[in-house]
Amino acid sequence: MSAPTVSVPTPSAPAADRLDALLPVVGGDTPVPLVDGRTVSYANLDYAASAPALESVAARVTEVLPLYASVHRGAGYLSQVSTALYETSRQTIARFVGARQDDVAVIVRNTTDALNLLAGCVPGRVLVLDCEHHANLLPWVHSTGGDDRRATVLASGPTAAATLDLLRDELTRGTYALVTVTGASNVTGESLPIDALATIAHDAGARLLIDGAQLVPHRPFSLSESGVDYVAFSGHKTYAPFGAGALVGRRDWLDQGTPYLAGGGAVRDVRTDRTLWQPAPARHEAGSPNVLGAVALAAACEELAALPAGALVAHEDALRERLVDGLSAIPGVRVLRLWSDSADPVGVVSFSVGEDDPGLVAAYLSAEWGIGVRDGRFCAHPLLARLGVTGGALRASVGVGTPVEAVDRLIEALHAWTTDGPRAEYDVVDGCWAVIGDPRPGVDGIDALAATAAAGCGPVVDD
Ligand SMILES: Cc1ncc(COP(=O)(O)O)c(C=O)c1O
Repeated sequence: MSAPTVSVPTPSAPAADRLDALLPVVGGDTPVPLVDGRTVSYANLDYAASAPALESVAARVTEVLPLYASVHRGAGYLSQVSTALYETSRQTIARFVGARQDDVAVIVRNTTDALNLLAGCVPGRVLVLDCEHHANLLPWVHSTGGDDRRATVLASGPTAAATLDLLRDELTRGTYALVTVTGASNVTGESLPIDALATIAHDAGARLLIDGAQLVPHRPFSLSESGVDYVAFSGHKTYAPFGAGALVGRRDWLDQGTPYLAGGGAVRDVRTDRTLWQPAPARHEAGSPNVLGAVALAAACEELAALPAGALVAHEDALRERLVDGLSAIPGVRVLRLWSDSADPVGVVSFSVGEDDPGLVAAYLSAEWGIGVRDGRFCAHPLLARLGVTGGALRASVGVGTPVEAVDRLIEALHAWTTDGPRAEYDVVDGCWAVIGDPRPGVDGIDALAATAAAGCGPVVDD
């Protein structure tokens, strides 16, 4: 195996090329090893899967840890402090998504959890598009123990405008309690106009749920301003990877729906022959809540909300434009688009490289350039089939911690791939592409940490 001759920045180089991240994130400069023995700063282009923690979030969690104690049940001083921290965080999270006065914020694990929770509360049929992440598809089609008649899965149209028409038509044909749509596609970053969706759903007597997993971390969003009834999102995609997410929206369904978790904290009174449940949010939050997760998510919400108006959008728009322009200029690269008329797509861009196996290209990007992207079908199999890439694709995604250099490195690496091909040799091992005789240190937990630290690249922190 010959060593790559490509030139990439080293951790000892001036950090000027990384200054254009909008906010500091933990691990923004984490060194990773390459197959040629060098180390480079990790180019994290996988924010859509899980984003790194904001430094302010990590600091807040560290600050709160000494105050951590049992929540809701303890009479001790720190229990009361922890309870206050948890409930204040709930309010901050609700405020961040523009909750109305009587909306409820349920603290959950992530978007998948939030959508499964709501599936137990919707008093009627659900209309969903075929372009959704599985998290916003499977809970609806399987929410009655496999009875697919509970939901209609509508094929999205070739444009956003056509898709709105299809939704409008279907809502005149059937009676639906809920329309549920992604706020931004986890494959293309594109979206339907939310205000128009709310009007279409409400005109038909239905409510609107927005899967905010890819929207909320990247665009200002307000339930009260948009008229959207529910929003679900994940802390780990919102720069707060501490295990919490949220479902925020109208109280009545959440007060009456099936308690999501049965257990302590969700009940008012239990006898052996009957149970009296609490109203929401406690109704759905049985068991000991994730106080630190909620605190972390609230801290991320506060920092994002404090950004100067337009800064978040401007940063991500610039990165997305550079990404799409760069990819489009590489012969054989096809950028996947769902709706050509989509306004304001977020920084999530999927693409194919000729007929090349996306897993192989992703392995090359990692091993020879220190770039992290996603490959596969992105938990959106129907959408990938619709886009004609049943074998999967590659996805690059950005966020507040992404420097322009990461995008430029990806483009340079793909140019090198299409002109020279890989320098190392690869094979499929246990279903994944891997470097044959990979000289890089193992990635089995502590091994990887020790190895990068031993390379003299400074401390390795949460990444
Ligand atoms: C649009 C969308 N919805 C839902 C999910 C599920 O999110 P989580 O894995 O945090 O539950 C994802 C995750 O990638 C997503 O991108």
